[in-house]
Amino acid sequence: MELEKEISKRRTFAIISHPDAGKTTLTEKLLLFGGAINTAGAVKSNKIRKTATSDFMEIEKQRGISVATSVMGFDYAGKRVNILDTPGHKDFAEDTYRTLTAVDSVILVVDCIKGVEEQTEKLMAVCRMRSTPVIIFINKMDREGKDPFDLLDELQDKLKIHVRPLTWPISQGESFQGVYNMYKGELNLFEPNKTGISENKAKIVELSDDGIEKFVEKKYVDKLREDVHLVEGVFEPFNKDLYRDGLIAPVFFGSAVNNFGVLELLETFLEIAPQPSSREAEERIVNSEENKFSGFVFKIHANLDPNHRDRIAFLRICSGRFERNKFFFHTRLDKKVRFTNPTSFMANEKTLIEEAFPGDVIGLYDNGIFKIGDTLSEGEMLHYKGIPSFSPEIFKEVENRDPFKAKQLEKGIQQLTEEGVAQLFTQQPGNRKIIGTVGELQFDVIKFRLEHEYGAKCEFRSLSFSKAYWITGDTEVQLNQFISSRNSAIAYDKEENPVYLSENEWMLKMIKNSFAAIHFHTTSEFKNKKSEVLL
Ligand code: G4P
Repeated sequence: MELEKEISKRRTFAIISHPDAGKTTLTEKLLLFGGAINTAGAVKSNKIRKTATSDFMEIEKQRGISVATSVMGFDYAGKRVNILDTPGHKDFAEDTYRTLTAVDSVILVVDCIKGVEEQTEKLMAVCRMRSTPVIIFINKMDREGKDPFDLLDELQDKLKIHVRPLTWPISQGESFQGVYNMYKGELNLFEPNKTGISENKAKIVELSDDGIEKFVEKKYVDKLREDVHLVEGVFEPFNKDLYRDGLIAPVFFGSAVNNFGVLELLETFLEIAPQPSSREAEERIVNSEENKFSGFVFKIHANLDPNHRDRIAFLRICSGRFERNKFFFHTRLDKKVRFTNPTSFMANEKTLIEEAFPGDVIGLYDNGIFKIGDTLSEGEMLHYKGIPSFSPEIFKEVENRDPFKAKQLEKGIQQLTEEGVAQLFTQQPGNRKIIGTVGELQFDVIKFRLEHEYGAKCEFRSLSFSKAYWITGDTEVQLNQFISSRNSAIAYDKEENPVYLSENEWMLKMIKNSFAAIHFHTTSEFKNKKSEVLL
């Protein structure tokens, strides 16, 4: 019973957006409204400066800070809210994709001026893979943006999801009046530059009620009535089950920087967002309410201090109860492990915990036993699914610059790629090491960390590949034939899966035409057809 009660309290989610749409601001405001922080500015420091491509210390410093802010937990209205932070910089997108496997839902922030941007589409593709429930927050309504109906069309077209507005904006930009909450029958009036956390609301269940004109000028009321009439006619009524199945996304309008629409979002989120439920392991589906503990590692963070090689593994609890000092089963290593200093991340601070429940994310000190994707259980051989690798976009060969430190280089690369900083591919003959990333920034981070944490020196030689495809064949023989005929473009990932490295789309098309028996997959999770998203 206690377990069920704890689970029903948990809401674990991530806030995602294209850089600059307002993710950091909204996160901060949710923490403010949730009572987790008292002042604005606390979350800002987590942002990696957008221009930083060579300031290694800055990257390091900020990575360090982000350990503490990686998970932000707080209690609000009887619920335990766990916000999982995702890096703002696009070069760390892979980190964000992995974090999305550890949440039960997401809030997607869209800038009303820019609409759906590139990163928004990619992130949404990852959400669709797992049918993650999504709430959309259209931000910056205090600025002159796109027409709300056009924005909704754009969301449906580009994000390939049905949407259903739950609030509707009354004008925008300089004349922004606020929103009408169709879900609650409430008017929420906008006050620019507001610092307080209250919202100025009025109950208006029927829009035809003249009372509304006490709050908003008639010309805006007329337009609102017209718009809402259209919305009710065009969009299906909101259905919580469809939202929870990831088929329809409720939409809110607001302005995070002005503390507007945030409380409304938080309260509706708590009402409709799903609690931790079941999760798919390779062996079976595990229900969160099962008594036996299980969880998986979705992120590993290195210690900032080079004298302390230990790392923090972030474990998402999927079922049962985690307890400090209890022996659990590390399924990949086939051995028992226990943790004396597990931490939770409440209100931005790390604290030692005695126990944790499904939906919680805890930090485990790791002296090298964890890889991303590892599962812990209470004895059962379980492997949680769902941490696929996505194709990197930049590929470089590692060249050792200090022959006496070859071992350190090897170890460093091994460990950094286990942390998920980048992907490692090996090419034969010669055991050539190829690092694949989604952004240039990672190469700076890797080089810096290899030197400072492992004492190894290396250079990177650019390669002309632009995409990696995991390959399978109709038959083993056909696959092997393909591999030997295209050897210079074949490499192996860390699990020894063969990968075809393509220079461009045209080349891939040619190859596909010539080798019909070979199948090219965009993620490493190719056994699951749903994972075939183009990123
Ligand atoms: P991100 O994490 O998604 O990258 O975005 P972030 O919250 O940092 O917001 C990006 C910029 O947009 C910030 O301005 C922020 O103040 C602004 N912003 C966020 N919400 C709103 C909003 O509702 N209305 C308006 N008009 N602006 C908003 P900046 O100039 O880049 O940073 P700062 O100097 O304000 O901190």
